[in-house]
Amino acid sequence: MEEPTTSPRTFPNWEQLYQEKSVETMPWFNPDLDADLEQALIPLQLLSGKVLDLGTGPGTQAIALAKRGFQVTATDLSATAIQLAQEKAQAEGFAITFRQDDILNSHLEHTFDFVLDRGVFHVFAPELRSDYVTVLSRLVKPSGYLFLKCFSSLEPGEEGPYRFTPEDIHEIFGDRFTVQSIEQTVYQGTLDPYPRALFCILQRQS
Ligand SMILES: C[S@@+](CC[C@H](N)C(=O)[O-])C[C@H]1O[C@@H](n2cnc3c(N)ncnc32)[C@H](O)[C@@H]1O
Repeated sequence: MEEPTTSPRTFPNWEQLYQEKSVETMPWFNPDLDADLEQALIPLQLLSGKVLDLGTGPGTQAIALAKRGFQVTATDLSATAIQLAQEKAQAEGFAITFRQDDILNSHLEHTFDFVLDRGVFHVFAPELRSDYVTVLSRLVKPSGYLFLKCFSSLEPGEEGPYRFTPEDIHEIFGDRFTVQSIEQTVYQGTLDPYPRALFCILQRQS
């Protein structure tokens, strides 16, 4: 079994990053709906409903979900990311609810049919993960889904996000979520090659 790498990581100041760089240059920028999420929606018969794009960043996933008819809320820690994504959604004619919100101290009051986390959980230090699970179990409706994309332990090196094995995901989420599936995949963005990732379908226990 792969050993998870747990040495401390440093991350950018998110607000400064979105003020200084164009979103199209960011490693996670993907203009299309995440391919793993797209494949998951139809078998689960998720064709409408209230969804949260957590840590929306460039807002591409929120817009792609709105295009498919979902009622989308999109949040990010960075106020600038939210402002830029909101301008883009408005220019494209999509009504998305954008909020600046720290998921670890979330002020969101609604619950959602599903939450997409594409690249947020894997930036949190190990001691913050149980807080994250507690918040997510409040935000996802009973029997709703958390779609989680995070770096895989198969991604070499110790730079950037924390890496996870499927066993880590079971251990971290297993008390509150039923693990429906975990696939080894890639994180589509601007890096070449794409980093190795896990795509996890987690269903909230009722
Ligand atoms: C790797 S980027 C992914 C962006 C987006 N999900 C995507 O796939 O394009 C991680 C995002 O998480 C946001 N973020 C970091 N910490 C956060 C927190 N505590 N609460 C909400 N968002 C956070 C960052 O500002 C950044 O936009």
